[in-house]
Amino acid sequence: MVEKRDFIDTKDFTKEEIIFLIDLARKMKESIKNGHYPQLLKHKTLGMIFEQSSTRTRVSFETAMTQLGGHAQYLAPGQIQLGGHESVSDTARVLSRLVDILMARVERHHTVAELAESSTIPVINGMSDYNHPTQELGDAITMFEHLPAGKKIEDCKIVFVGDATQVCASTMFMATKLGMEFVHFGPKGFQLREEHLKIAEENCKISGGSCLVTEDIDIALKDADFIYTDVWYGLYEAELSEEERMKTFYPKYQVNKEMIAKAASHVKFLHCLPATRNEEVTDEVLDAPYSVVIDEAENRLTAMRALLVYFMNPFINPATKEVGDKYDAEFKSMLQNAPGL
Ligand code: CP
Repeated sequence: MVEKRDFIDTKDFTKEEIIFLIDLARKMKESIKNGHYPQLLKHKTLGMIFEQSSTRTRVSFETAMTQLGGHAQYLAPGQIQLGGHESVSDTARVLSRLVDILMARVERHHTVAELAESSTIPVINGMSDYNHPTQELGDAITMFEHLPAGKKIEDCKIVFVGDATQVCASTMFMATKLGMEFVHFGPKGFQLREEHLKIAEENCKISGGSCLVTEDIDIALKDADFIYTDVWYGLYEAELSEEERMKTFYPKYQVNKEMIAKAASHVKFLHCLPATRNEEVTDEVLDAPYSVVIDEAENRLTAMRALLVYFMNPFINPATKEVGDKYDAEFKSMLQNAPGL
């Protein structure tokens, strides 16, 4: 009996497993671009719990299930008993008998952690106040697709500009896991916390990556291959008024043409979206040819397909590349032909 696994935090996965997921995701993307939809999730159902609104996460999970032959159920805020009369643990135990896999976007991280602990089916974290691991995977895929000529991912520098949101923490987790140079350029009081930095430091010991927090724009942006930003309004903390946001972040931390000019000439711009145009990023950057934000949004779907297939097939062994007997021939052949596997 193989134990079920959850995708709550990339800290629980090796670099090898992450690379395996990225390769699988890219192979499936190629296959679907060529009109071939591997029906790997036929008769499978995904339960999607949302305590908050979402465009990219919700639509990409649902589309991934449809493309792979399965079905998704949207469990909207206020429409299921969770958060009302039923405990997280009871909800998890009941849904484990009704669907095959769960994803949850939650207000607080302990909710998704408890769902995973109490479920007998895999649970995927669709964003919490602590992290956003499916975004991490989509962003890694996007960076692999946009590597500067002649560079490996381990040679690249990524700078996260502005507020240390959970996406900022997640970007650091993934970058340091992959062995990249990570910099957070943000003001005091809005910088990455010690508990986050400790995880990055542990990642760097294994991967050879690095991690720095600075308020110095020249140090931060020098030779940057990727610039990333997120909103300033404080998604989970006490929401900042427009006046407070401007006082804290503007103009120093706005990603504009002048900031872009300080990075490498081949720099690419990333944003998890939704963006507040002309606040954390100007129109001219968001809509520039070096902005890869729409590819990034598409790669949420690329990532979800691989995550759903991987976590519903826990017999895959990324160390040996062996595929268990339970897989259908199509899946076996797809994995064996995947680039880099
Ligand atoms: N980036 C992201 O998670 O977008 P949604 O909130 O629209 O899902």
